[in-house]
Amino acid sequence: MILTVTLNAALDVTYRVERLHAGGSTRVRSVAERAGGKGVNVSRVLHGLGVDTLVTGLAGGTTGRAVRQELALAGLPDALVTIGRETRRTVAVVDEQAGETSVLLEPGPTVTAGEWHSFTTRFTELLPGAKAVVLSGSLPPGVPVDAYATLLRLARAQRVPAVLDTEGEPLLAALPARPALIKPNADELTATTGLADPLAAIAALRTAGARTVVASLGPEGLLAVTPEGSWRARPPHPVAGNPTGAGDAAVAALAAGLATGAPWQPVLARAVALSAAAVAAPLAGSFDEALYRRLRDQVAVGPFTKP
Ligand SMILES: Nc1ncnc2c1ncn2[C@@H]1O[C@H](COP(=O)(O)OP(=O)(O)OP(=O)(O)O)[C@@H](O)[C@H]1O
Ligand SMILES: [Mg+2]
Repeated sequence: MILTVTLNAALDVTYRVERLHAGGSTRVRSVAERAGGKGVNVSRVLHGLGVDTLVTGLAGGTTGRAVRQELALAGLPDALVTIGRETRRTVAVVDEQAGETSVLLEPGPTVTAGEWHSFTTRFTELLPGAKAVVLSGSLPPGVPVDAYATLLRLARAQRVPAVLDTEGEPLLAALPARPALIKPNADELTATTGLADPLAAIAALRTAGARTVVASLGPEGLLAVTPEGSWRARPPHPVAGNPTGAGDAAVAALAAGLATGAPWQPVLARAVALSAAAVAAPLAGSFDEALYRRLRDQVAVGPFTKP
């Protein structure tokens, strides 16, 4: 089983409207609700691949219950820990005429010290069943900034490899706990290290404690720097669609690779094919299966030598 952690889970609400009237009233044509958050997306992709996965994190109130119900409908088992405050919502308003989507993101509920402690206990109990853990996304208010360092140390104590996908302070504070793999995108590399050159940024993150860095470069694919070597993996062509959640699909493939101890080259090829197939699917957490199968053999993975 691959355990995914979403500390700042959400109920993603999508309103479709004919035309959004900013400053006025707009009738909503349809409402869709889905459990969201980056770890949840990773679990959806793993489930789509037929890989056993379990969702954990924090959930509270009415929206927390709606998140749990929707996960169950999607066939995803959850071990979310209940908190007192309401789980956040994200609201996406799809303006059909303008072809634009506006998104509102709530910050998330404030978590108490006792709730955070309960979560670390639950996480420790879940680890013996996990072949890999995925720690994804932002931290809700009240959770200590070094939360991921704590979870990484707990996982390491039970020899469970961890993939970390976050940015800024939570990422920097986690690196001393030596994650097996981190997956920053190009913006996160620069924003987190202050270095414009991706190679220099990757080197700095590895010096700070990340064993492997797999940088995702949008349509350009992946650049992996590992203790076993460095590789560049590219899709055969750019894919049109919705790139939100493509990084989560890449993380799913990388976590599945760590869980089985597979060699890097095929794992990187699958990560590129799967994330490109996720771009082709409209919702984060889903992917175009036929495209995934087609692209798997077409991804070019080569050793990377410095230019
Ligand atoms: N247009 C595209 N065509 C083909 N592959 C793509 C495209 N966009 C992204 N990808 C694939 O998806 C991977 C992840 O994309 P990206 O670097 O945008 O991740 P991200 O910003 O972390 O995404 P998110 O956090 O929204 O999940 C890329 O490394 C690449 O393999
Ligand atoms: Mg990302």
